[in-house]
Amino acid sequence: MDKKYLYISTIGCQMNVHDSEQMAALMEKEGYVGTKDVNQADLIILNTCSIREKAAQKVMSSLGRFRRLKEKKTNLIIGVSGCVAQQLGDRLLMKVPDLDLVLGTHNIHRLPEFIAEIEKTGTKIVETSLSEETPSLGIVTLPQIGQVTAFVTIMQGCNNFCAYCVVPYLRGREESRTQEDILNEIRNLAGIGVKEVTLLGQNVNSYARSTKGASGFVGLLNEIEKIEGIKRIRFTTSHPKDISESLIAGFAGLSKLCKHIHLPVQSGSDRILSLMNRKYTKFDYLAKVANLRKSCPDISITSDVIVGFPGETDGDFQETIDMMNEIRFDNLFSFKYSERQGTAALKMNSKVSEPVKMERLRILQALQEEHTLEKNKALEGRREEVLVEGFSKNCREDVMGRTSTNKIVNFAGHGNLIGEIVPVYIKEAYLHSLRGEML
Ligand code: SAH
Ligand code: SF4
Ligand code: F3S
Repeated sequence: MDKKYLYISTIGCQMNVHDSEQMAALMEKEGYVGTKDVNQADLIILNTCSIREKAAQKVMSSLGRFRRLKEKKTNLIIGVSGCVAQQLGDRLLMKVPDLDLVLGTHNIHRLPEFIAEIEKTGTKIVETSLSEETPSLGIVTLPQIGQVTAFVTIMQGCNNFCAYCVVPYLRGREESRTQEDILNEIRNLAGIGVKEVTLLGQNVNSYARSTKGASGFVGLLNEIEKIEGIKRIRFTTSHPKDISESLIAGFAGLSKLCKHIHLPVQSGSDRILSLMNRKYTKFDYLAKVANLRKSCPDISITSDVIVGFPGETDGDFQETIDMMNEIRFDNLFSFKYSERQGTAALKMNSKVSEPVKMERLRILQALQEEHTLEKNKALEGRREEVLVEGFSKNCREDVMGRTSTNKIVNFAGHGNLIGEIVPVYIKEAYLHSLRGEML
């Protein structure tokens, strides 16, 4: 039998990246080999994101490109998965008639079954049901030989309904995997040489909140800490309202927990935070940051901010800037507010104009660059423990790794360092990385 090739294109968050890994693992069992060359593909999957309008637009342009390949290869199968598939369902098929499969976020475990059906009958399939229990949560991926880091989904879905956000509609309600399931997966990963796991969930602090007798997120971290071979634990994302005292204490007490937290603040104005339905105030957020820094003085804190949320005045924006100056984030992802179907903010008045949004984003990003560089420069002359992940992008004589605080470090080193934690002297700091020398 001829080999069949699978090409996956992924847009969106780490959860989506991991979903793509899961789909690749499922199809590999069916005899599909992954390819990076779309022209070689027998099956193309576009794994999509709908968080902002721009991400959703990318889907249509990519599909336009993929459809043309079908003119040359009539048995090419094209599927769309992820959040745009979940959102549009049938409508996507109407917009793009040569599509074969629309696969929602809770159905990726059924991919092999659907592809077999399409191969046999040429039928078109749309499956976007949202179930309470999602078997796809536990699909195990196939790490590559020598892979140092891996994603592990611990929960998915979101119950928070922030006024701007589509995720609760597209990923459904919060659902956690069992602790046993997660620990088994991580033990297996450790067994094949993975050193660092990143626990994924839209809101990891809610892990197992509704599960009776479970010890919650910190309980899970405590158990992962005991797994031999795993040297580092990361997680993403946390909601500021849910980060607990015990997690804050964990940054001091858990030796494998990395000194980094991504804690999206969204705005520094209480009025906007309330309109956003974030359920914390600027004061609450500053208090959590202070406690985190008390527990772990070196912790790096990164965040997300939205500019131009409906009703955001110059004064509200200034409060965000003031808060940034007070906190000085290690890094910040900032976005212009983007209107999304079905969300509460859609109906809010006092929309902010595009030029104003652009100007606010520009000011905010320029300020953040100063802060990022200042934070990175503070590491010059210091010794950092770096987990080596692979070769540097630009130079095969160099290796790259990360500090516990999630900063990228490049330094001269041999490939046999990959997977090791080594001491590195930081010589020079840039905006996006550090240059070091192994000690
Ligand atoms: N669950 C994560 C957020 C996932 S979305 C959390 O709550 O932290 C990642 C980021 O995208 C959000 O933090 C927010 O800053 C941004 N975002 C979400 N919806 C958006 C919208 N409609 N317009 C602009 N940015 C948005
Ligand atoms: Fe979206 Fe808010 Fe849920 Fe994050 S917590 S996924 S921003 S609704
Ligand atoms: Fe995008 Fe869906 Fe993730 S909307 S950010 S891919 S949860």
